[in-house]
Amino acid sequence: MTEGSATSLSEGRKARSKAYASIAAVVLMAVAAWWFDPDWLYGWLKVLHVVAVISWMVGLFYLPRLFVYHADAVAGGEPAATFVVMEQRLVKVIMNPAMMVSWVVGLWLAWSGFGFLGIWLWIKIAAVVGLTVFHIFLSRSARRFAAGENSMTARQWRMANEIPTVLMIVVVIMVIIKPFG
Ligand code: HEM
Repeated sequence: MTEGSATSLSEGRKARSKAYASIAAVVLMAVAAWWFDPDWLYGWLKVLHVVAVISWMVGLFYLPRLFVYHADAVAGGEPAATFVVMEQRLVKVIMNPAMMVSWVVGLWLAWSGFGFLGIWLWIKIAAVVGLTVFHIFLSRSARRFAAGENSMTARQWRMANEIPTVLMIVVVIMVIIKPFG
């Protein structure tokens, strides 16, 4: 792993600082917008919500895919070490911040637009809790892979990919169709 290459430690730290600076800027703008409460606020926060949700879902789908290849890589080899860097970076730089923004902005939309009322909303929140549990399971698995302690086969990881797919379909049906009132 060469210093300055896409997988080096210093590049990882730079990417993380950039991500956190962007989050800080977004939070500042959100606080200012909330203070002045203009008409466009709801629509633009929904835009932010969907962007965060897409980024989070990319990670929830891609990380188990990386685990499929990683599970078959020779322990201690160079490909395995590269997978560790890719996995850790995906969790820390993309998935954790995206999950936090999805939750915070989603809860704000639910309060401001619906006063937390609606069966569809609570089914959606339950499905998002499921996605969050899956996220925690994946990030712990990434740590286990880094320590060389993965105990699942490539086939099992391939099957694990179905979990976020089903939960995402439930979430999208609830928020777009809004069944059950
Ligand atoms: C607990 C976390 C979440 C809460 C409380 C929440 C809540 C909400 C609320 C209240 C809206 C606005 C609905 C409207 O204006 O009609 C919304 C929009 C949306 N949410 Fe979430 N959400 C959360 C997480 C997610 C996740 C994880 C996904 C995707 C997997 C998602 C996908 C969407 C989409 C696609 C929209 C736009 C729907 C539309 O405008 O028709 N949300 N969310």
